[in-house]
Amino acid sequence: MDCPQEDLPVIHSTQRDVLPPPSEFQELLGSLPTRKDMMNALHYCYNGFWFCEAILEGTTTFQQNFQAQDTDIILVTAPKSGTTWLKSLVFSITCRLQYKISDKNHPLVTTNPHGLIPFFEFLYGDNKSLHMPVGKPRLLATHLPYTLLPESIKTSKCKIIYLCRNPRDTFVSMWHFRKKILLKFDPSWQFPSIEESLERFCEGVSKYGPFWEQILQFWKLSKESPEKVLFLKYEDLKGDIIAQCKNIADYLNCSFSSEEENEGVIEDIAKFCSFEHLSNLEVNKSNEEGNVPLIENNMFFRKGEIGDWKNLLTTSMAEKLDQLVEQKLHGSGLKLN
Ligand code: A3P
Repeated sequence: MDCPQEDLPVIHSTQRDVLPPPSEFQELLGSLPTRKDMMNALHYCYNGFWFCEAILEGTTTFQQNFQAQDTDIILVTAPKSGTTWLKSLVFSITCRLQYKISDKNHPLVTTNPHGLIPFFEFLYGDNKSLHMPVGKPRLLATHLPYTLLPESIKTSKCKIIYLCRNPRDTFVSMWHFRKKILLKFDPSWQFPSIEESLERFCEGVSKYGPFWEQILQFWKLSKESPEKVLFLKYEDLKGDIIAQCKNIADYLNCSFSSEEENEGVIEDIAKFCSFEHLSNLEVNKSNEEGNVPLIENNMFFRKGEIGDWKNLLTTSMAEKLDQLVEQKLHGSGLKLN
């Protein structure tokens, strides 16, 4: 099988009844260009972006069926750019009156962040029993580019938080993550060389790629409509997490009060959601598949550092990637280093 269910970063679904009839979906698949992606898994080019079959099926169903509400909060990231961290921060910030971070039974103590904020592509996919969140605001997530989001997200007043990461570290994180999953699925999986893998990443043939297109879409939108999109960088979260927690809370209209600031609520949230703390919680150390079929909870936590690319890429490979990024972002005003 070419495309394992490896990248099913979430959970279960009650949406099976809304999936398109298999024949219709198979017809769509048959009409799309295909290529092996950066890890040699078969991918389909759908409206300019690359997907494996399982994710594409959930994506098309999501596009046809999801109705956004004005109060929805939608987290958008490229894979491996810090989604797990963003989910834990946004959950902690928006639910802080309901769940004190010091509470021993805080949902993040017992549930991996992906179990609390589902990805649309999996919520609408053929998984097990993922549920659409109830109550308001609904916290939801996706790796999809803006152009592939359903109209109701674009026309409603729902808010989007976009997080990206330096492409060198994103590539390396992705390479480790998918290697682990693919080997688990098939111990004899044949990977491209690291050079070839990077080459395909630079051609845009990676999960949800081309990665720069997605980043640019949300960057431009955040400039045009700052009330609709908050644009964040992993490196800025690392640089000053307190300022970024305030930034997120202000954007979501749930600013921290001066009492909360004095009581150290922001510091507590930042510490709770830190790599060190989250990755050491029993639920996240667990190698159970838990909320994410085929992906063990602990696989979302590797090093959580800036600059780990140096351990996999040569300087010339990194320079090649930098040149591509510079060329693609030219004139946008965005810098990713
Ligand atoms: P590394 O592979 O570089 O360690 P995603 O959540 O989008 O799948 O991204 C995973 C990356 O974010 C991994 O990077 C992972 O270690 C890192 N990560 C997970 N939780 C984090 C946290 N709380 N703080 C910082 N980085 C975190």
